[in-house]
Amino acid sequence: MSEFKKLVFSGVQPTGNLHLGNYLGAIRKFVALQDGNDCVYCVVDMHALTAQLVHDDLRGQIRSIAAAFIASGIDPVRNIVFNQSAVPQHAELAWIFNCVARIGWMNRMTQFKDKAGKDREQASLGLYAYPSLMAADILVYRGTHVPVGDDQKQHLELARDIAMKFNLDYAEHIRKAGVGIDITVGDEPVHAYFPMVEPLIDGPAPRVMSLRDGSKKMSKSDPSDLSRINLMDDADAISKKIRKAKTDPDGLPSEIDGLKGRPEADNLVGIYAALADKSKIDVLAEFGGQQFSVFKPALVDLAVNTLSPITGEMRRLMEDTTHIDAILRDGGERARARAEVTMNEVRDIVGFLR
Ligand code: TYM
Repeated sequence: MSEFKKLVFSGVQPTGNLHLGNYLGAIRKFVALQDGNDCVYCVVDMHALTAQLVHDDLRGQIRSIAAAFIASGIDPVRNIVFNQSAVPQHAELAWIFNCVARIGWMNRMTQFKDKAGKDREQASLGLYAYPSLMAADILVYRGTHVPVGDDQKQHLELARDIAMKFNLDYAEHIRKAGVGIDITVGDEPVHAYFPMVEPLIDGPAPRVMSLRDGSKKMSKSDPSDLSRINLMDDADAISKKIRKAKTDPDGLPSEIDGLKGRPEADNLVGIYAALADKSKIDVLAEFGGQQFSVFKPALVDLAVNTLSPITGEMRRLMEDTTHIDAILRDGGERARARAEVTMNEVRDIVGFLR
């Protein structure tokens, strides 16, 4: 038995302002993972067309996600940072995956149901096939580990299903092409071309909730700007939003169990813990028994101190975009070269003439 080489892949859509949920659920983890791992981080611009076909300033949005990556500390030399459309092999593999994936699997995707809303007949075919492109994003590099927020869990399970079905359906061809690896999935030995991707979701803030409603995810599309902290918010805005964040009348508990049934308190403690690189238990050890009137100002300080350098650097990078454009161009070239190696093997496996 051998193992796939560890490769970290993740992507962020260039749609709307990045918020604290994107930062804590994804980008902060990207930064931590770059030490000692081969990492590929992608601005998924092709995905941005699935829910909204025409964008006012897609190029600007792509650059601003790349700027957020760099400003947060991702090194574009050690890692690959690029935009998805620069590597057409994603779309090519997605087509093959569209033929592997079953309609029944796609019908179970809760994010499609949420995003399509009531008038599902009017949703784009792209939105429906979105998770198949997402699987291709990862697997075109034979990616093994994917840092994401909790909302992407189902999509990554689908990526595993697609990889597994491809491996089983093409087992003979993979063997003939001599490009597979023997792995075990559960107890089953499988001769695999694609790895079973592992989601990296853990941490104190896998699902950052709205500051106005602890039962709703913090989201770019929430009509209330008070519900989220945007990465481009200044210190005053951050302070105002945290001070106005919904809480209950009780103080903070000393034990983690005391957060049960208190989604708003749980959310703020999780945010503090993630920003401070601590566990929720440690945060409660420090603030247990205190009122929100004490905890909120501490959270404001921590959030401002963590986010303002990133915001400042993003602004600086966005003033003259030649640097960001050069990073994306270089990342695109390196990503294309890697993706082409995979696609040449995939074309052989499926039997295309080349
Ligand atoms: P996107 O652009 O919606 O979000 C980017 C990342 O931010 C995470 N996230 C959150 N984490 C915690 N709390 C929240 N409230 C919150 N909101 C968003 C998301 O989980 C995500 O990690 N489908 C993906 C993009 C994608 C992708 C991929 C990701 C396309 N291809 C391949 C990984 C691998 C998406 O729409 O993320």
